[in-house]
Amino acid sequence: MSNEFEGKLLNKAAYVEDILKKYLPKEEGYISRVTEAMNYSLLAGGKRLRPVMMLEAYRLFAKDNSDESEVEPFVAAIEMIHTYSLVHDDLPAMDNDEYRRGRKTTHAVYGAGMATLAGDGLLNYAFETAIDGAIAGKDEKFLRALKVLSAKAGIYGMIGGQCADIMAENGSADAGSSFADEKAVLHFIDENKTGALIEASLMVGAIIAGADNEKVNLLEKVGSNVGIAFQIQDDILDIVSTQEELGKPIGSDIKNGKSTYVSLYGMEAAKDKVKELSEEAMDILKDIDASDSFLEELFNYLIYRKK
Ligand code: IPE
Ligand code: IPE
Ligand code: MG
Ligand code: MG
Ligand code: MG
Repeated sequence: MSNEFEGKLLNKAAYVEDILKKYLPKEEGYISRVTEAMNYSLLAGGKRLRPVMMLEAYRLFAKDNSDESEVEPFVAAIEMIHTYSLVHDDLPAMDNDEYRRGRKTTHAVYGAGMATLAGDGLLNYAFETAIDGAIAGKDEKFLRALKVLSAKAGIYGMIGGQCADIMAENGSADAGSSFADEKAVLHFIDENKTGALIEASLMVGAIIAGADNEKVNLLEKVGSNVGIAFQIQDDILDIVSTQEELGKPIGSDIKNGKSTYVSLYGMEAAKDKVKELSEEAMDILKDIDASDSFLEELFNYLIYRKK
């Protein structure tokens, strides 16, 4: 894909990283170890796709007199929540992986206890940060944004997806008959463990910019499609990429007996599905007059992403 686009994306990622840096917890006093571990994982250099999506969704609907700083606490919060989900996902009790974002995982450096707390700390601090923004904003739209952020991160979102992801390990032999339809379970996993935070990113940006419910609901569908496609591509890369390129180990899914789109449908079908879901998402963007937007370029780019 075009280097020009990659350059633009890197600039936007650097821009949201500067926002994130304004909200980092201080590394001092008796809590310094946990805040150091939080910042270690936050600043390891992820792609920052979710905060970029949030900012771009905001810009789609912002009015001429909008003050973009109103969305910034939420931009920082979504990356904190996403990073917490990765810190916990890598723990020995979950996927048990040693590398993330090109460095040792948080538990490998700080121990499992401190990594658990760093994840908890990031989740909670995300809401401290977003709520401060909502208090300063003095508008009911911030409460709606908080509701979306909290629900999509929770049991009816990311945590729910991670639950099913664990239950479905090794053919879900112990999970009971409700897990018998492996393809239905996989759809639930992908939609929730990964789709939900991408939905939240787009929805929160739009809500704070003042978009109406109909537009927000359409963006939820866009986020679901893009999120599921993103996870399928992640599962593909877990097989065909390298640790160098990804910054995290490959072969994690096979090691853990995970149910993935590739394991259930095969590699070629997985690639086709990424395209199909992304194209559907692009069609919805047309309906909200967001063709030719940065988001459209981004979703196109993600179909063929290599990391
Ligand atoms: C990794 O997300 C976890 C998945 C949901 C597949 P990213 O690929 O966005 O990870 P970072 O933030 O760039 O490290
Ligand atoms: C995890 O999916 C999605 C999260 C909610 C963290 P994976 O377990 O496939 O993510 P990676 O491959 O470790 O980044
Ligand atoms: Mg996992
Ligand atoms: Mg994992
Ligand atoms: Mg993966």
